Order: sequence, then structure tokens, then C-alpha cells
Amino acid sequence: MNKLSLRFIKAAFACLALGLALGVSFALDRSLGARLRPLHAELNLWGWVTLLIYGFGSHMLPRFLGRPLVHLRTANTQQALAIGGVALAAIGWLGIAFGFPYALYICVLGALAQLVAALLFVWQIGQLLGA
Ligand code: HEM
Repeated sequence: MNKLSLRFIKAAFACLALGLALGVSFALDRSLGARLRPLHAELNLWGWVTLLIYGFGSHMLPRFLGRPLVHLRTANTQQALAIGGVALAAIGWLGIAFGFPYALYICVLGALAQLVAALLFVWQIGQLLGA
């Protein structure tokens, strides 16, 4: 497996571990759920699910189609934005939960990075498919 896909999959599993741990903590202390639910959703949906799709997609689609990823540098930028975006948004959500004054800005920055990463992924796969 190439390094790009492997990094995505490792990051996805790290998010799964954190996201599930939060979910279990909610079951033990219901008040945590109300505060940290957005962080749990961020880590599970953007962290675990989305990063795993990027990882498997960038590994399997070039093999299914018999063509390599067209723009490797863009793929690396997309990865930095995707993983960095999840990390920033997660820090932002944590900050919001604990009343850190600039947390909302950190969260929005992370969300924007994730949005650009998602659009770059669509473009990258579109190029691969010849769309
Ligand atoms: C051990 C596994 C998990 C446990 C124990 C768990 C537990 C919970 C709990 C207790 C809540 C409600 C928090 C509250 O509002 O008080 C919640 C919300 C949520 N969980 Fe999980 N969760 C788990 C795994 C997952 C996974 C794997 C995903 C997604 C892939 C996920 C996605 C969500 C989302 C999106 C919400 C927010 C729902 C809403 O706002 O209505 N969870 N989880």
C-alpha cells in the first residue's frame, strides 16, 4: 500500500479510537454527551469515516482503473488539508466546549480545510475517472 493511503488509514483509526472512547464516556456520564457531542461526531464522521474513504479510495480506485493518481502533489496537499482540518476542527470543538475564546475561529478554519480537501478529492478522482 502506498504511503499516502497508509497515512489516511492510520489517521482514520486514531480518530475512531478517540471517537469511540468519547462515545463510551457519554454512556458513563450523560452530561459529557451534551458538551462533547460535536467533537464525537467530528471524530467519527470526518475523522473515521471520511479519512478512511480517502485512504481506501486513493488505494483502490487507481488499481481498479489501472491508472495512477494523476496529480500526486495535489493528493499530498489534499491529505494535509483533510487530516489537519479534522485536527483543527476537533481542537476547536473542544475549545468551544470549555469556553476558549477563539475556539470558534479554529473550528471554522478546520471546517474550511476539510471542505477544500473534500473538493480536491472529488476533483482528483474525477481526473482519474476521466470525467
Ligand atoms: C462505542 C461506540 C459509540 C458510542 C457508545 C456512542 C455514543 C453516543 C452517544 C451517547 C451520543 C449522544 C450524545 C448526547 O447527545 O448526549 C452519540 C451521538 C452521536 N454519535 Fe455516537 N457513539 C458511538 C459511536 C459512533 C460512531 C461510530 C459514529 C459515526 C460513525 C457516531 C456518530 C454519532 C453522531 C453523529 C452523534 C450526534 C447525533 C445527534 O446530534 O443527534 N457514534 N453517540
